[in-house]
Amino acid sequence: MDRTCLFRLLVSAACICHCMTAVAQSSGEQASGEKGEPSMDRLWGDRVVKLRAENAERGQLFDEGNYAMFIHWGLYSQLANKVDGKTYYGIGEWIMNPRMAGIPVAEYKQLAGTFNPVNFDATAIAKLAKDAGMKYIVITAKHHDGFAMYDSKASGFNIVDATPWKKDPMKDLAAACREQGLGFGFYYSHNQDWTFPGGGGGPTVDENGNEATFDDYFAKKCLPQVKEITTEYGPIEIVWFDTPGKMPKHYVEQLVEIVHANQPRALVSGRAGHGLGDYQTLGDMEVPHRNIEGMWESVDTTNDSWAYAWYDEYWKSPREILKRLLACVGRGETYMLNIGPRGDGAVPERAANTLRESGDWIRRYPQVVYGTQPSPWQHALPWGDVTRKNNTLFLCVFDWPESGKLYLPNLKSEIKGAELLFGDRSTSIQWDKQGDWGVIQLPPRAPEKLVSVIELEFSSEPLVDPTWALDPQVKTELLAEFASVQDATQSGKRWMEKFGEWKRITQVHQWKPGGKATWEVDVLQPGDYNVELTYAGEGRLVWQVAIEGGEQIQNQQNSSHNYQSFPIGWINFPKPGRYQISVGLVEGDPESASLKAIEFTKM
Ligand code: GLC
Repeated sequence: MDRTCLFRLLVSAACICHCMTAVAQSSGEQASGEKGEPSMDRLWGDRVVKLRAENAERGQLFDEGNYAMFIHWGLYSQLANKVDGKTYYGIGEWIMNPRMAGIPVAEYKQLAGTFNPVNFDATAIAKLAKDAGMKYIVITAKHHDGFAMYDSKASGFNIVDATPWKKDPMKDLAAACREQGLGFGFYYSHNQDWTFPGGGGGPTVDENGNEATFDDYFAKKCLPQVKEITTEYGPIEIVWFDTPGKMPKHYVEQLVEIVHANQPRALVSGRAGHGLGDYQTLGDMEVPHRNIEGMWESVDTTNDSWAYAWYDEYWKSPREILKRLLACVGRGETYMLNIGPRGDGAVPERAANTLRESGDWIRRYPQVVYGTQPSPWQHALPWGDVTRKNNTLFLCVFDWPESGKLYLPNLKSEIKGAELLFGDRSTSIQWDKQGDWGVIQLPPRAPEKLVSVIELEFSSEPLVDPTWALDPQVKTELLAEFASVQDATQSGKRWMEKFGEWKRITQVHQWKPGGKATWEVDVLQPGDYNVELTYAGEGRLVWQVAIEGGEQIQNQQNSSHNYQSFPIGWINFPKPGRYQISVGLVEGDPESASLKAIEFTKM
């Protein structure tokens, strides 16, 4: 096959000018930051890529387990985002904060008097995590509100001393995790404490009206509590510090030293601050599109809130959970998925069911999730994702090909064997090569409802060329993140849909005349492909998409405040090979026109 056909063509387009004020997507900074206050994502500290843990023993569960349960449970759970009959939409554990209901400290503290989680069942929660296929649990010991969900001697504002329930759920949960063979860890908000004098975002005077400093808070509460949670609950896998903000480095160093001294196996989360965590923690609800080196975790939640919110019934389906889990494992590391128990301690039924159903799949295919290495393609493929174990690839197929052919682009290694798995059974399947592409012959029906797995054996580590390729059957989405850009700006963009509900993309915007975003792609099957662009913007825009040295198409479409796909037209790739495809805006508001992706579907 002639692979040297290199085509390069400029993208340029014209649009009808609508001089409307560009209403940019509300940015995290706008949505969450009060005047002068850092927005929440600025509180997360610097994202530092950490090398693998110094000694593999420490963090082994993190490094090989790849899947964990996060739990947000506290006084805020009993409010469930409703205060005095008014519902606040956003992440429930922030309900006290002025960015949500703005509850005064004294009023908030009274909530302890009604907190009586009679339906909390540590054994059931540990069993749920186990059934979900999760390898450890990280639960809120103290969140930004300052209430200790364990028996703390350092502060009377805790679940034993201040509530009618008078029990320590963490003792039971730690024991239940050990019984189930799960790791156990604590979330601890070490910088923010909205109810303790001197805490980040908290009162600046103490109960006697004396000025309170962060030093006071650190010495009287933060340091003693971190000592408590790292000495009184047995072996700890992770201490998950959060939102370090501008916490002084020497304080973070003290806390990290305490964790490592008291819990030699424990890892400190990437949000400790000052790059002092043991691994990288990505932004909230972020699932990466490219492989990431080193130890890292994605933190996500089963709906859109960390803590229980009465209205939030938008649960991730078992298929969506597996998609996001396999995307994280395929990019190289760990997915920690959150549940928010109600104020009475019960886990919402739908959250439990979706975790169990996805867990049933993982129990059928543990080899695909645990102790695996990242996909050699370094990104997802149009039909699904791939994990690896030594010389074996696990093809996780979400979009089953009707034609019975699954296309593997740019294989540089020879397949030795192919099996279609069905739990612990498998049937050999045929494959052939078309140029560098592997073509797997599949039965018409997928064996699994959620995601089906093909095991490919190679005689050595499978090598591929990770260049993107247009699948001959399934829509191929090329994200702006993978483009090279000139005379335009490629940048990350984060915003909140509801407060605390983070979205993020890579965009191409700020288009200059002749600006373009270019992707290099391989095409196996020549012919016409339908092209769509996903973008946000203002007014009508005319985009032009072109193949270097080949066809170019142009169309006028409207735009939307939110990212939406618009059809541009069909474009022809005359023969198999490698192409340069470029997109650019020639007419339209160059500031608000924000390109997210281009999609191709074989006609
Ligand atoms: C953000 C929120 C916090 C939540 C955490 C989960 O830092 O401030 O409420 O616990 O994300 O990752």
